Amino acid sequence: MEKFIINGGKKLNGKIKVHGAKNALLPIMTATLLSPGEYKLNNVPDLRDTRTMSELLREIGASVIFENNTLYIDTANVSNPVAPYELVKTMRASFYVLGPLLGRFGKAEVSLPGGCAWGPRPVDIHLDALKKMNVNITLSGGNIIATGQPVGSEINFRFPSVGATGNILMASVISKGQTILKNVALEPDITSLGEFLIQMGADIKGLGSNEIIINGQNKLLPVKEFDIIPDRIEAGTFLIAGAMCGQELEVSNVNPDHLNDVLSKLESSGVELICENNSIIVKGNKNILPTNIVTGPYPAFPTDLQAQWVAYMSIANGTSIVEEGIYFDRFTHIPELNRLGANIFLDKNIAKIEGVDFLRGAPVMSTDIRASASLILAALYSRGETEISRIYHIDRGYEKIETRLKHIGADIKRV
Ligand code: EPU
Repeated sequence: MEKFIINGGKKLNGKIKVHGAKNALLPIMTATLLSPGEYKLNNVPDLRDTRTMSELLREIGASVIFENNTLYIDTANVSNPVAPYELVKTMRASFYVLGPLLGRFGKAEVSLPGGCAWGPRPVDIHLDALKKMNVNITLSGGNIIATGQPVGSEINFRFPSVGATGNILMASVISKGQTILKNVALEPDITSLGEFLIQMGADIKGLGSNEIIINGQNKLLPVKEFDIIPDRIEAGTFLIAGAMCGQELEVSNVNPDHLNDVLSKLESSGVELICENNSIIVKGNKNILPTNIVTGPYPAFPTDLQAQWVAYMSIANGTSIVEEGIYFDRFTHIPELNRLGANIFLDKNIAKIEGVDFLRGAPVMSTDIRASASLILAALYSRGETEISRIYHIDRGYEKIETRLKHIGADIKRV
């Protein structure tokens, strides 16, 4: 099994480019199922999740070619609206095929996702909304069997779930009548999915607000070419790396509007940031001020940067509090960070972090994408050598991270 060996303490300098957003890409890939034809997606990150979703689309009958960060998808021969357990269990975002398959075929069979590394992740919000849209849902052999063309309805999500908003948006663009979605997710990934659907001919109003109105169409058309937005989570990870270990690091291909809360927390922690067009320059922070965060639905601080923030605060000058408001158990990085010498105490979903003067390299284990990113940040800062095992997690969300970090001065190798 592959590992990273990191010799910490090197200064990060130069320019690092942010790639396309995984969480915008995955639902857009499934949206191509809505209308038969050819699609071209640009700025696609080369991730394990991109390959898993490509495999799933092929399983359903699409042709998918991925080269030079460009995806060519042809959904003309899609005929098998089934997402098997083998693929769904490795990537929960596979559940995104449910909405588009229902829209196009009026039926779908998708394996019910189980829990994940940090606890249960139910899909009741997706299923309740589909039931309201007159779709018949049954469970057989661990699979959700959904039948019936979705019918327009008014749906008030009990929580602004990213996945449910995306799935129901895709289920409603080809449907009978009008759908009104209330309390929707506002994440830029969802807005970008909505823009893609509009380019397919969908009638969607209110994107970016918490109420979206969709007038169902009979059919949609393929989008010839679409650019995936920059990954705000990757950008945030690199900005935190710059604050912890940077001399002067330029993080390019960023949309600063997608990072408002993160940038303001970085500034509160004493970092100097210079925003220029689509780049942000970050200078190493020599006096890290303890800065509390509470994660929540966008535009609040993202849960996908919580682990990285905990790594950052572990070397702050004082005590900080990090509260996880989305996934109450998403803290598997804490015992691993403590192995590097951090002083972090967990009480339910609240981490109390007492900043230490230095971290020291040790063998640690990564448990999910963002926990891995947090361990890499801590290892880059630590004195001596850190060995991070189970790094297949990081390849799900960050393209060739070691090559890109090496380019800005990190001493990191994959063995
Ligand atoms: N929830 C329910 N029922 C549902 C759906 C969600 O109770 O039917 C709960 C979840 O258990 C969780 C909260 O609602 O407590 C938020 O879940 P959400 O549905 O918003 O998350 P998701 O769509 O499953 C996406 C990202 C995650 C990111 C979350 C929150 C993708 C492919 N995944 O997941 O990304 O953490 O939104 O922003 O977009 C990652 O990239 O590392 C990652 C985990």
